[in-house]
Amino acid sequence: MPLHELLALPKGIVMANGHMWKQQRRFGLMTLRNLGLGKSVLASQIQEEARCMADLFTAKKGEPFDPSLILDHAVTNVISAVVYGHRFSIDDVTFKELINCNHCIVENIGSTWARMYDAFPWLMKHIPGPHQAAFRHMNYLNQYTKKEIEIHKQTRLSEEPQDVIDYYLAQIEKSKNEVDSTFNEENLMSVITDLFGAGSETTSTSLLWALLYMVAYPDIQHKVHKELDIVFDGSKLYYEDRKHLPYTNAVIHEILRYGNIAAVGIPRTCIKDFKVRNYSLQKDTMVLDNLDSVLYDPQYWKTPNQFNPQNFLDSDGNFLMNEAFMPFSAGSRVCLGEQLARTELFIFFGTLMRSFSFHLPEGVTEVNTKYVYKMTLQPHPYKICAVPR
Ligand code: HEM
Repeated sequence: MPLHELLALPKGIVMANGHMWKQQRRFGLMTLRNLGLGKSVLASQIQEEARCMADLFTAKKGEPFDPSLILDHAVTNVISAVVYGHRFSIDDVTFKELINCNHCIVENIGSTWARMYDAFPWLMKHIPGPHQAAFRHMNYLNQYTKKEIEIHKQTRLSEEPQDVIDYYLAQIEKSKNEVDSTFNEENLMSVITDLFGAGSETTSTSLLWALLYMVAYPDIQHKVHKELDIVFDGSKLYYEDRKHLPYTNAVIHEILRYGNIAAVGIPRTCIKDFKVRNYSLQKDTMVLDNLDSVLYDPQYWKTPNQFNPQNFLDSDGNFLMNEAFMPFSAGSRVCLGEQLARTELFIFFGTLMRSFSFHLPEGVTEVNTKYVYKMTLQPHPYKICAVPR
């Protein structure tokens, strides 16, 4: 699609194809593991961000506030530590601009202006409008990443890579004599902006839905509190703890199912003529994953159109996975950050629920659970009260 192509070169992971995509994706997965995904190193970083997030919630003293900035801050700091090797303070001007850029790009890609751009690129290129701001914001993200790469080149210790940039610079050196290597600085920049973009907005939007559903369904909130109080001894939460918290785990899965934030995934193209069931797809046909078709399939869910953790529980209250649970899509293009996202959601949501009860502000009686379509499906802006438990 013309707007996607202009915003992101066909490099890195998300927009790359063929041999280049394979090499970059494999590198991305391997590096996330090297940096501690699935191990205690990354878990303790997420726990530390969860603690800071809870402190910022406590500072609101039970007064109504919009939680989006604090959630963005926690989630962005995790991916920032992974790719850039550092976190930001919540008042940092650069952090606020990076968040603003991500929001603006997501908002623009989902807008009517973007569809007009895709239909008439030759015309829209010359017309002012919000789509022009998206290019400026993409440029800011790229320039910031370039600056980080330059700093890393000066300061990194090749024996002790600390983040994705360090690992990538080492990989460029290692494969410089390989003729088919796609490891170079252009791809490095795209890999970093891909991970930073895909790894922040998605997870913080899911958390924003999580808190909204908790005030919309206080009985479910109450059950999560009860389970956490009974099972949990008060020490730090680990992703492995989900096995002892089936109800909380079911609620998180239901947030991802019902929230359906990625809705149509990322536009893909058939690389050859292809037959799937009775449909013949020609080479170059655009394919969108219609994730609703599985996440809301009446054949697979007890209550497809209702928020209900029972969709993931058996009659004895044990957690039950469902093969139609595909919020991260499926196949070889399945979300590269799925495990990181699941770990973050569990630790952040669990920490917040353990520490607070969430209520509507006084005088507010209705919760709007309808979505706003941006590139992801997002809740309308809202305010809540977080009362320490
Ligand atoms: C709740 C959070 C998240 C959701 C619901 C989500 C969902 C998705 C979906 C639906 C896709 C499209 C797959 C396709 O093209 O068919 C995708 C791709 C991708 N995601 Fe996520 N994602 C989340 C979090 C993350 C995180 C934390 C990261 C960063 C580490 C990440 C990195 C990526 C990348 C790099 C791709 C492109 C994969 C490729 O083209 O090979 N995502 N994600």
